[in-house]
Amino acid sequence: MELSASSGLWAFVFFCHIGILVSSESFTLKGSDSPVIATVGTDVILPCQLSPRTSAKQMEVRWHSSEIAGLTHHYENGHDALQKQNPHYQGRTELFKEELPNGNVSLLLKKVQVADGGSYVCFIGNKSNYLESLVELKVGAVGTGPTISVHRSQDQGVTLTCSSEGWYPEPAIMWADRHGQRQNSTMLSVKDVQGLHNIQSHVDVKDNKSQVLVCRLQSNFWDQTRQSELQLSSDLFPYDKHPYVVTTVILCLLLVIFGVVTGFIFKTERESKGKLQIAKELLKARNSAVQIRVDPNTAHPNLHISSDCLHVSHSDQKQEVTDTLERFDGWACVLGSETLRAGKEYYWEVYVGNKTDWDLGVTDGKANRKGWQDLKPENGYWGIRFFNSTDYIAFEDPEVKLKLGKQPKVVGIHLDGKAQRLDFYDVSDMSHIYTFSLKFPLDVYPYFCPGLNKNGKNKDPLNLCFLSPDYSDLMSSTSIPSPHISTSELLEGTNRKDVAVEHSNLKNSDDATLPFLHQAPFIQKQEPSPQSVNMHKLCIGS
Ligand SMILES: *[C@@H]1O[C@H](CO)[C@@H](O)[C@H](O)[C@H]1NC(C)=O
Ligand SMILES: *[C@@H]1O[C@H](CO)[C@@H](O)[C@H](O)[C@H]1NC(C)=O
Ligand SMILES: *[C@@H]1O[C@H](CO)[C@@H](O)[C@H](O)[C@H]1NC(C)=O
Ligand SMILES: *[C@@H]1O[C@H](CO)[C@@H](O)[C@H](O)[C@H]1NC(C)=O
Repeated sequence: MELSASSGLWAFVFFCHIGILVSSESFTLKGSDSPVIATVGTDVILPCQLSPRTSAKQMEVRWHSSEIAGLTHHYENGHDALQKQNPHYQGRTELFKEELPNGNVSLLLKKVQVADGGSYVCFIGNKSNYLESLVELKVGAVGTGPTISVHRSQDQGVTLTCSSEGWYPEPAIMWADRHGQRQNSTMLSVKDVQGLHNIQSHVDVKDNKSQVLVCRLQSNFWDQTRQSELQLSSDLFPYDKHPYVVTTVILCLLLVIFGVVTGFIFKTERESKGKLQIAKELLKARNSAVQIRVDPNTAHPNLHISSDCLHVSHSDQKQEVTDTLERFDGWACVLGSETLRAGKEYYWEVYVGNKTDWDLGVTDGKANRKGWQDLKPENGYWGIRFFNSTDYIAFEDPEVKLKLGKQPKVVGIHLDGKAQRLDFYDVSDMSHIYTFSLKFPLDVYPYFCPGLNKNGKNKDPLNLCFLSPDYSDLMSSTSIPSPHISTSELLEGTNRKDVAVEHSNLKNSDDATLPFLHQAPFIQKQEPSPQSVNMHKLCIGS
């Protein structure tokens, strides 16, 4: 083949120049000047060539990545020596043994993953000398579809959802009409276990005329566009007798595909859900509504807590409190005062308003509250964080970056102990934010971190909403059939009985944030306190 011819030629070149090259020690090792691009799931060669061509058979060859510790591949004394290989690469790397006599120490990396991306160092050496060279590997994946699904929404319109799975890096997604006019939409992106992006974009259509809508995904990395088109017919709009039966039509018209198309199997982390579905879920969750208050004894010294224990804010001024084991001293957080028992169901809401930073979730009562450890499941925390006004993370391991279309004003948290799941909802937008699956039954506490006040930018308190019974009436005014919840049911549905209730001598009208040291942690009240009523308005009126 061509190979033997060219190696013959190289041998010739080599022998012509050997004297000069060796004596001047002008050996070089050449990787690749331009990045090597690979698609997830395929095999790729990371080039590395000793020149002039000299046998590398008796040399030590090492490949390692700037991103992943340990060695990617190791060859020594004429054999692969993979004891120090990072398990990430196990069984996926090979040198071309037949190429070693030519000084070709290129690495074959099989079944490329997202995490493989980065710079690689190719090292070759013997006792007296060594050379190194760099190869940049860029990894990408082109997603599926997109598919468009149609959901009828409550308000005489339809919601179209465009979904595509398995992209890396994340592509841009947009909706446009026939004339290329962009449509307002909300976007959501979830990373799967392989680090690939599954994205969705929703657009609400109120217009009952026939029209064509296009969902377009664009990846600058691949210089690729993929789109699906949907012809909406006006028949879709008139209501039938059962408007709340969600009809889902999957229309998959794949019109334009450029470039490589590779099929992947993905685990979708979440199904697409219409707003109506969410509204139903929320209604159901509210049956287990519980009035949560915070426990000042667990509060970080910089937190100020209102007298009714419903409002928590951060201040630069430290409170004079004793540093006990149960108190947070790193993260500015506080626990709810009630134990949420394993296997039971609870629901609570927090008004976050326009705060720029916050953390919400549940924690194992035994979890460490000291220092700045990650608030992730491994450490006994299941929660989400909003920070810098823009970024949302679910603290899975690894973290999941969430893309929400809108900034939630009210966050609903539903702990379903039976199903062992923890759901976060944007109540203001009737959308689902994230669901954690809890691996084992456990008593937990809610936690609340209002974030640092950031020179006043994030000074607003986190407000625990007062979930009054007429909340569900308000919900049902959107004419979704709702189970009737009476006050007594609401109170019984909670674990109030589990809580040692202390009477408070505090005036409820006292709105000032007092140092919390002298406050009773709980207030037993069947009726909403004046402040709670305000909260009620605050949460609902948003
Ligand atoms: C090194 O070997 C591989 C595998 O045969 C080949 O694809 C590559 O082109 C070789 N590199 C050079 C510089 O010859
Ligand atoms: C080490 O490799 C260089 C070429 O890179 C060669 O000139 C030298 O003879 C080798 N030394 C030993 C001890 O093998
Ligand atoms: C799209 O959103 C912008 C800003 O939120 C708003 O001003 C505009 O009216 C919206 N357009 C449509 C068609 O809803
Ligand atoms: C569209 O809706 C308007 C009222 O909003 C109604 O008058 C009209 O008949 C509807 N058109 C069709 C084609 O359903």
